[in-house]
Amino acid sequence: MSTAKSIPVDKHITLAALDSAPYPIYQRLRREAPVLHVSAVRRTLLTKAEDTRYVKATPELFSTNDPSTPMKRAMWSHTLMRKDGKEHRRERMAMNGAFSPKVINSDWIPQYERIAREYVARLPAGETIDLFSALSGPYAARGLAILLGMEEATDEQMQEWSQALIEGAGNFGWQDKLFERSDRANEEIHALLDSITARHVSAPGNSAFSLMLNAADPIPKKQMYANIKIAIGGGINEPRDALNTIIYGLLTNPDQLEEVVRNRDWSKAFEEGVRWIAPIQVSSRVAKEDLEIRGYHIPKDEVVMTIQASANRDEDLYDDGESFNVYRTDKGPHQAFGIGPHLCQGNRVARKAVGEIMLPILFERFPNMRIPDLNQVIWKGFGFRGVTQMPVQLK
Ligand code: HEM
Repeated sequence: MSTAKSIPVDKHITLAALDSAPYPIYQRLRREAPVLHVSAVRRTLLTKAEDTRYVKATPELFSTNDPSTPMKRAMWSHTLMRKDGKEHRRERMAMNGAFSPKVINSDWIPQYERIAREYVARLPAGETIDLFSALSGPYAARGLAILLGMEEATDEQMQEWSQALIEGAGNFGWQDKLFERSDRANEEIHALLDSITARHVSAPGNSAFSLMLNAADPIPKKQMYANIKIAIGGGINEPRDALNTIIYGLLTNPDQLEEVVRNRDWSKAFEEGVRWIAPIQVSSRVAKEDLEIRGYHIPKDEVVMTIQASANRDEDLYDDGESFNVYRTDKGPHQAFGIGPHLCQGNRVARKAVGEIMLPILFERFPNMRIPDLNQVIWKGFGFRGVTQMPVQLK
């Protein structure tokens, strides 16, 4: 007979608390209840790095197909993110060419460099601007539009679609209003993809849409559209939030900024920023059978939520993981891009676009940037986390 304990249940943690200040909660849970069913989230939260890694790296025991999420409703289809095994692999590989190091270097880096220079050049020197809306959001949107092959979409459209799809996918309250917004995004994206199909067929390129359309054995069109939508939902907010977080980390730690500039350690700053505040904080998996984690019985079909945000600050791996420290020696491998078969497909391009391209260009143009009032910086988010406004004086 199994001696596994039942999962403890919490009825006090609220979604509002997780949305505004999750890190003190995770720090407590790592210490007191690393496997905990949180009623407000209706899931079992795993907060230790060893456990989140185990779940994601063991797809034979944990499925990504969580039927209780509103993602399918929000995206009008099942995307590759919620598929397992061969089916997942086939869809992921259909656009993989667009994410290969060769294509990133030949096709996307020159474009990201051009956009970064152009968007930084139009910032008004000397003024205080909201970096979120003036730079980080539009930069992430333009790069993604090009990589996906939908340059016809404006930065505003890309950002609206991304936000609408993400809010729909996170609409656990199943509110009509949020689905109306995501439905509108779906309609507009489908109309655009319909209208640019002929262009991609007559002049094939290396964009994700073009590669999927022109494949020898193409996946169904519905799935091409679904996976473009998951890339829109997953490819704008995260580089945008990563960029803002890293800039915040550097501007609030001037000694580190000085050293980063001196050594051109932009990639190190990138890795520390996404470790410190993971843009995607949590991911769900469903137990495929009865099993045990840390001596607790996890019944078949239980939805476990791996909290990579917490794993990235786990005391087992990091001394003072709560602090931003580019030069920490206990780097550990962070989990900000996930692990296993669903490892972020955009991780290489995000590392280049943000870490290697935008950060040095921005700090060269405005070496004395500062945040005039830290109280004006607003952090938010349980599933996805970043600043929602960050006024910066451009000097
Ligand atoms: C700093 C930026 C980014 C971060 C932190 C990030 C994070 C993640 C994470 C944690 C996952 C895995 C979720 C899970 O395990 O359930 C993921 C998946 C994914 N990401 Fe990213 N992402 C970033 C940028 C991007 C970009 C720029 C793109 C597209 C160009 C992208 C496309 C994707 C796709 C398509 C998947 C699904 C992969 C699959 O299920 O096989 N991501 N991302």
